Amino acid sequence: MSGGLSRGDLAPRPLMEGSCDLQSTPLRRGWIRCGTGCVLTTGYEEGLAMRTTTLGTNGPEVGVIGLGCMGMTASYDLATPRDDSTSIGVIHQALDLGMTLIDTADAYGPYTNEELVGRALTGEHRQRAVLATKVGLVMGGSSPTAGSGTASPGAGRNGRPEHVRKSIDDSLRRLGTDHVDLYQLHRVDPEVPLEETWGAMAEAVAAGKTRHIGLSEVSVDEIRQAQAVHPVTSVQSELSLWTRDVLAEVLPYCAAQGIALIPFSPLGRGFLTGRFSSFDDLPQDDFRRQLPRFQQEALRANLAIVGRVREIAERVGASPAQVALAWVLTQGRQVVPIPGTKTPKYLVDNAGAADVELRAADLADLDALPAPEGSRY
Ligand SMILES: NC(=O)c1ccc[n+]([C@@H]2O[C@H](COP(=O)([O-])OP(=O)(O)OC[C@H]3O[C@@H](n4cnc5c(N)ncnc54)[C@H](OP(=O)(O)O)[C@@H]3O)[C@@H](O)[C@H]2O)c1
Repeated sequence: MSGGLSRGDLAPRPLMEGSCDLQSTPLRRGWIRCGTGCVLTTGYEEGLAMRTTTLGTNGPEVGVIGLGCMGMTASYDLATPRDDSTSIGVIHQALDLGMTLIDTADAYGPYTNEELVGRALTGEHRQRAVLATKVGLVMGGSSPTAGSGTASPGAGRNGRPEHVRKSIDDSLRRLGTDHVDLYQLHRVDPEVPLEETWGAMAEAVAAGKTRHIGLSEVSVDEIRQAQAVHPVTSVQSELSLWTRDVLAEVLPYCAAQGIALIPFSPLGRGFLTGRFSSFDDLPQDDFRRQLPRFQQEALRANLAIVGRVREIAERVGASPAQVALAWVLTQGRQVVPIPGTKTPKYLVDNAGAADVELRAADLADLDALPAPEGSRY
């Protein structure tokens, strides 16, 4: 079989084991790769702006690409004055494009990100969004995050049940809603048994304050611990062409358990788009200036990765950002990346990744990219 797929080919079909004859078929709307490196179909919804999937087996329907809102008020480019009206427009535009999973956290700002998202998601916009926020990272939290990664510079962890109980109410107030769709534990607090933190999050489900609960940056053992208390709808972890750790254990476990994987920083914090050629290109007052991969020497070495992505993008007729996201999408039907942007044209570019076709040769080249220089944090 070589290209020329008909509508019938795009009907939902179960995943299959074993070999198939689709190696030369480009990956396109609704297609993912199977365990043998071939391609097979997932669901396809005619008439929707973007094809959809469900957030895990029992979660809500979402566009296969969502929107991360962190950079609208936190972490990146802090010296440039915020442009809230453009950011709110980007959130609305995301919903129009079918990117319905909208991700924020109380730690972003802190609080400013939830406040902004709350201003954007009123009335019908709130109804169209699948709203996800997070708890568990706080300024001056009980356990420092040094060495194990933090989403917010200077934040520590707090997984105490009383903190979760108070935080969900505070988040709902800032977000201007009576419930969120997904409440995520930003980081496990090593000083608090996960069962206790997760139990408090399950209370929020029982109270109708969130429809579902999820984890972030966890091991398979931690997922199992949480599952023993209450179902885990999703796991949010870094996954991109230059950060593939979750492919080894976490993603296969999530796939087998019907848990969604929500890749954060799927564009390598912007690096994979080709925007940064040197350390000096990074905006002033920007979290990336602290990260090992963005230090001058590492960044220079990592340009080899971007160069290859750019070549493949030219071959495919897409942008580097689209190729980076399309590769993430091929990791499975339950994988819903949340690229972050506050820029309308980037949002449109990212939405287009859902339609990008990657052939087996493109995937092989992307799989063979060199490992990055420098750790994630
Ligand atoms: N769970 C966690 O611990 C955790 C950690 C980090 C992030 N997150 C979540 O994941 C989301 C995404 O991650 P991220 O923002 O760190 O990284 P990312 O999505 O990999 O990259 C964001 C950066 O790429 C730029 N960009 C986006 N689309 C682009 C395009 N098409 N062309 C060129 N540049 C483009 C953005 O620019 P502009 O912003 O200037 O438009 C921004 O600087 C966050 O918003 C947050 O919701 C979660």
